[in-house]
Amino acid sequence: MSPEFATRYNRWRYNLYAPVYDRVVAAFFAPRRRRAIELLAPAPDERLLLLGAGTGLDLDYLSGCRQLTAIDVSDGMLARLRRRADRLGLAVDVRVMDGQRLDFPDACFDAVILHLILAVIPDPVACLREVERVLKPGGRAVVFDKFLPDGGHAGWARVAANWLTRLIATDINRQLGVIVGHTTLHIEHEESAGMGGFFRIALLRK
Ligand SMILES: C[S@@+](CC[C@H](N)C(=O)[O-])C[C@H]1O[C@@H](n2cnc3c(N)ncnc32)[C@H](O)[C@@H]1O
Repeated sequence: MSPEFATRYNRWRYNLYAPVYDRVVAAFFAPRRRRAIELLAPAPDERLLLLGAGTGLDLDYLSGCRQLTAIDVSDGMLARLRRRADRLGLAVDVRVMDGQRLDFPDACFDAVILHLILAVIPDPVACLREVERVLKPGGRAVVFDKFLPDGGHAGWARVAANWLTRLIATDINRQLGVIVGHTTLHIEHEESAGMGGFFRIALLRK
């Protein structure tokens, strides 16, 4: 599947998932989101980008932040994010945008949230290079997602399962270290976020 086609497919399927997304993922991921944002520790006046922001479930943990920008390819997901932001009384600059080609100038964000996006976006290296570009020097990004351990090898069962999971949800065979290795970002901290280390949280620094 070409990245262009995969991006159109993502837009289509997340518009389809939008009405049920929160019911399926909110409760299970809530403690991991809280932990990841705790690690990122955004200050109230920092410029913060939520990339692949979805319905805005992270906003529940960003009540002190005054300079929030959220982008996603799915306008259906973002419509829900706008309603959540209104409910929480948060001002968020919300834009439909491809995370592989950000329409922002260089070095304009202090921090980026990458929750459940690096395993979904067709080209995670292009995405992280864009994060690297838009982060200010010393800026940071927090990743929460599922990965194959660095240096690990996907057995045939995992390769086979990935055909299905990629189609309906997410790639399960990406390696965080390999993706980060294509940028000048470095992993400052990494920890397991459940399911025997299948889910991971990492803090990246420019
Ligand atoms: C699994 S959801 C995660 C949403 C949110 N970050 C969360 O933690 O709940 C993946 C999100 O990535 C978005 N997405 C997929 N491809 C994208 C792209 N190329 N650019 C921006 N967002 C994209 C989808 O529309 C969807 O909202």
